[in-house]
Amino acid sequence: MKLVLDTANLEDIRYFNTYYPIAGVTTNPTILSREGGDVVAHLKEIRKIIGDEKELHIQVTETDYDAMVKEAKTIVKVFGKNTFVKIPVTDVGLRATKTLSDEGYKITVTAVLSAGQALLASNAGAKYVAPYVSRLENICENGIETVAEIQQLFDVSGTETEILAASFKNARDVLEVALTGAGAATVSAEVMKKLISHTTTDTSIAGFAADWEKAFGKQTLGSMLK
Ligand code: G3P
Repeated sequence: MKLVLDTANLEDIRYFNTYYPIAGVTTNPTILSREGGDVVAHLKEIRKIIGDEKELHIQVTETDYDAMVKEAKTIVKVFGKNTFVKIPVTDVGLRATKTLSDEGYKITVTAVLSAGQALLASNAGAKYVAPYVSRLENICENGIETVAEIQQLFDVSGTETEILAASFKNARDVLEVALTGAGAATVSAEVMKKLISHTTTDTSIAGFAADWEKAFGKQTLGSMLK
């Protein structure tokens, strides 16, 4: 399962893009509003940091069909071919998704809270659907089961649409989503760090370093091999 970073914070994007195997960055109007300033310049900087090949997901802000289609095309023109246009799962959004997908644009249908919405998005030609795991769990629904049901629907139909699961508050849910066979998940910097953190890893690494130094001093294996 691909992992995407769900943030517009430039410092976090630089860090995770350097050290972690991320497939790209997702944004939405809320995420961008947290950074403020010149939003176009900010998105251009994100594209510069991650390069032309990684996925950059940018959400439309228009709500009228013609304006939404035009805005989506402009987004891809400005931010490049590996830009996925996020479109909310509304009636207008589905119509725009169909039009744009037919023309070869890559659409991520977002704010998906049910398998029914995912089915419609897939039939409209979406590349990704983004089910919101924690937002479902926050209202006593089962986010993982919803993702699993969507994946089952996609497997049965043989659609090329993939899941880009979103809205995670803990790392365990990311693993549960991966086990459903979902193609991708987008996670915050905080949850991404929780995927790597383990105190026993830290003590193990510290133990290796201490034992090595006791036996061989400050020399590294590389320096001995020269
Ligand atoms: O990118 C959209 C999604 O990840 C929203 O997450 O944390 O606002 O529910 P959250």
